[in-house]
Amino acid sequence: MEMKETEERYKIIDQAFGGAFVVLGLVVYYGSDHREQREKKYEQRTEASDVAESKHGVVAADDGRCSDIGVSVLRDGGHAVDGAVATALCLGVVNPMSSGIGGGSFMVVRSSSTSKAEAFNMRETAPLAASKDMYEFNPLSKYIGALSMGVPGELAGLREAWSKYGRLTWKALFQPAIRLARDGFVVAPYLGLAIEKSEELILSDPGLRKVFAPNGQLLRSGDTCYNVELGNTLEAVAEHGPQVFYNGTIGENFVRDVRQVGGILTMEDLRHYKVEITDAMSVNAMGYTMLGMPPPSSGTPGLALVLHILDSYGSSDAVKGPLGLHRLIEAIKHMLAIRMNLGDPDFVNVTDWITDMLSPSFAKSLWQKIFDNTTFPPEYYMNRYSQLRDHGTSHFCIVDSDRNAVAMTTTVNYYFGAGVLSPSTGIVLNNEMGDFSTPTEISVDKLPPAPANFVEPKKRPLSSMTPIIILKDNQLAGVIGGSGGIFITPAVIQVFLNHFVLGMEPLTAVQYPRVFHELVPNKVLYENLTMIDGDHIELSNERKVFLKERGHELEAQAGGAICQLVVQNLANPFIVTSRKIGEQPNSGQVFHGILTAVSDPRKDGRPAGL
Ligand SMILES: *[C@@H]1O[C@H](CO)[C@@H](O)[C@H](O)[C@H]1NC(C)=O
Ligand SMILES: *[C@@H]1O[C@H](CO)[C@@H](O)[C@H](O)[C@H]1NC(C)=O
Ligand SMILES: *[C@@H]1O[C@H](CO)[C@@H](O)[C@H](O)[C@H]1NC(C)=O
Ligand SMILES: *[C@@H]1O[C@H](CO)[C@@H](O)[C@H](O)[C@H]1NC(C)=O
Repeated sequence: MEMKETEERYKIIDQAFGGAFVVLGLVVYYGSDHREQREKKYEQRTEASDVAESKHGVVAADDGRCSDIGVSVLRDGGHAVDGAVATALCLGVVNPMSSGIGGGSFMVVRSSSTSKAEAFNMRETAPLAASKDMYEFNPLSKYIGALSMGVPGELAGLREAWSKYGRLTWKALFQPAIRLARDGFVVAPYLGLAIEKSEELILSDPGLRKVFAPNGQLLRSGDTCYNVELGNTLEAVAEHGPQVFYNGTIGENFVRDVRQVGGILTMEDLRHYKVEITDAMSVNAMGYTMLGMPPPSSGTPGLALVLHILDSYGSSDAVKGPLGLHRLIEAIKHMLAIRMNLGDPDFVNVTDWITDMLSPSFAKSLWQKIFDNTTFPPEYYMNRYSQLRDHGTSHFCIVDSDRNAVAMTTTVNYYFGAGVLSPSTGIVLNNEMGDFSTPTEISVDKLPPAPANFVEPKKRPLSSMTPIIILKDNQLAGVIGGSGGIFITPAVIQVFLNHFVLGMEPLTAVQYPRVFHELVPNKVLYENLTMIDGDHIELSNERKVFLKERGHELEAQAGGAICQLVVQNLANPFIVTSRKIGEQPNSGQVFHGILTAVSDPRKDGRPAGL
């Protein structure tokens, strides 16, 4: 009862940000005697608010306030990258359990005028004092506490992307996030749950306690949360640029806080941090071109391999129905086995593996090992190394009025990262070192850890994050991505297939029950969850029975991944503009169709349109 009330309080305030004052009025008017009617209104609101449509520009983030902030930047004439900076900073404040300037990200940007797509790798690096065996005597310290922190990359990456594409001032993009941090923001139900689940972690760290349990009481959904120090940090970075963190007073304070609780971070680490900017990795499958991150993301090559395996059937009908689902699961099992050979390409030579994962003929050789009547034990898939089980994250998609597009996935790894908040800067430390493999760690599958992903100074750990921009005939068709660690790539693939191949409406494509696999244990994890708005998502019985008949062991799981999706309707473009002459000789035109943005109802997010 109490819980429900506070959730509603949040929703009312959340709505106020979105401008849907009609609903706000109704709630107040009906009062507590008309509970049923009131709840019905919420249902309608929720249905409507999971989707935003616009001819001009959209933002699909997993928090409505941040989608609104992104759209307000687009409204001011900002490039999609400007929107991404403001949206990411907002998420770092209101969803501090998943992302923030103490973490790292992958960002894919495609410019409509040049057709060029770039990948910004702002993932955390291992500190200079890190080593392969650093967790030998305390394996837990890879996941919790200051030793689990990689050198944060988020601010440096946002700055690089903004320097190349930004149209608005750096300072202006920070103002909404600064206000939220300083003046306080309402704890959304999802954050409320994360705080509740992380009680022990929060209460045992003075920094987290001060922000999330002021007065000794854990904040709950509907309460107001303040992180004044983070507001001050953001203001300093807005004013002086990221140098104040990477080579200035904020950085010095941060390093002092980290070292005080046993961390190994130095100013030298911060000064050495470098964003990697490369061409996006391009994959052609099922009639579309997908642009994503190269390694250390296993997401794009993983998506390529699965889609190429499915393409081997020679017809899009192959992915339909329960049999299509069985084939998809088998393809995912093959992909998981192979992806653990990947690592940071600056440290390990992954050329041969990438060539394989992107090759339709390699996919065909795996396709021949898939049978419609059965599944197999993990060994069958040439499973050599134990799986990386990463966590956390937040994904958003942005398309602006010129049809520039951004797909960005950002993370601090586990909920509240390392479980430490730097008191002087308000920054939550990531625990991205947990995404490295370590020689001595015993894993559930008893397979050896993957050497390509061992710790080395300045190396970046392998990641499942899969931000993707989708093209059809060189026109923007969609933007997609998700959060949820090892479950991200399968979720992104399922949403892609649902909409672009099976023809589901964008919201249905995102909402449709998903399945996952980890290879070991040899189980299909199927979704069975009741969402914050009360809707239930569960794999159909027909599908469960079909999979069981093929020997799959099934296990229900409450959730797994959250996906955001933007699609552009290319059937009837209402404007066609020319690309700049000379920049792309055969480019011709840029289609502008209606944009539909969906935020996954599983996280109660809300997209926004211009
Ligand atoms: C750090 O700042 C100092 C001056 O304060 C400057 O000389 C140095 O070049 C900077 N280093 C980097 C890596 O930016
Ligand atoms: C990586 O491996 C490929 C194929 O085995 C080889 O051709 C290439 O020279 C190697 N690259 C480096 C930098 O060693
Ligand atoms: C599956 O089908 C293949 C032939 O396509 C057959 O050889 C095999 O025995 C079947 N397996 C099961 C478990 O029915
Ligand atoms: C599915 O989820 C519901 C709650 O949402 C729960 O009551 C039920 O037991 C779950 N089913 C399984 C098989 O776990």
